[in-house]
Amino acid sequence: MALVSPSILSADFANLEKEMKRIQDAGADWAHIDVMDGHFVPNITIGAPVVKALSKVSDLPLDVHLMISDPAFYLDDFIKAGAYVITIHEECDSDVMETLKRIKAAGVKCALSIKPKTPVSALEKYIDILDMILIMTVEPGFGGQKFITECLPKIAEAKKLIDERNPGCLLEIDGGVTCDNVAETKEAGANVIVAGSSVFGAEDMKKAIEIIGK
Ligand code: DX5
Ligand code: ZN
Repeated sequence: MALVSPSILSADFANLEKEMKRIQDAGADWAHIDVMDGHFVPNITIGAPVVKALSKVSDLPLDVHLMISDPAFYLDDFIKAGAYVITIHEECDSDVMETLKRIKAAGVKCALSIKPKTPVSALEKYIDILDMILIMTVEPGFGGQKFITECLPKIAEAKKLIDERNPGCLLEIDGGVTCDNVAETKEAGANVIVAGSSVFGAEDMKKAIEIIGK
């Protein structure tokens, strides 16, 4: 069993309210919102005002993934926007520990992500305060990429770290997840699954969410 957090990066941006309703009706647990600054990653998406607007029209917990170089600078905006969980990257330029502590102090769940080439050991010094780890299974920046199979052992490694040090911490994966490859990620320990193109591109969205979450 896993929570399913469809990434709205693959949604119809001209109809986001409808798209939020569509994933909720199809059984999504959270909505994953990819924030990109064109600097940390080579793509620009959406910012805090859109997150705020979505929180007003949807009951889904907002899973905000900050792929930005300086999350500390923009943090208050995303907290005020109504995020349920805020994920920052270990590779960002902000003070990671300080930023995680600020997220937690605001009553928002704090999460830390690593890119495919960053080892799980980089998470060790933060594990005690984390509510969630996010293992990227593609290079961040774009939806619709192919799952990097070499990341599977990292999921198992992160699960081990969680079991040993902070059993309540969730383990999310993001990138290239489909109905066909999701099972092995859950076997490795993932319990929150982000899926963009495989949910929004599915012929039967409800069925896709059911398979990804079961
Ligand atoms: C990639 C984003 C992902 C992306 C996932 O940088 O963080 O959330 O939208 O999309 P799919 O599931 O299509 O790989
Ligand atoms: Zn994401």
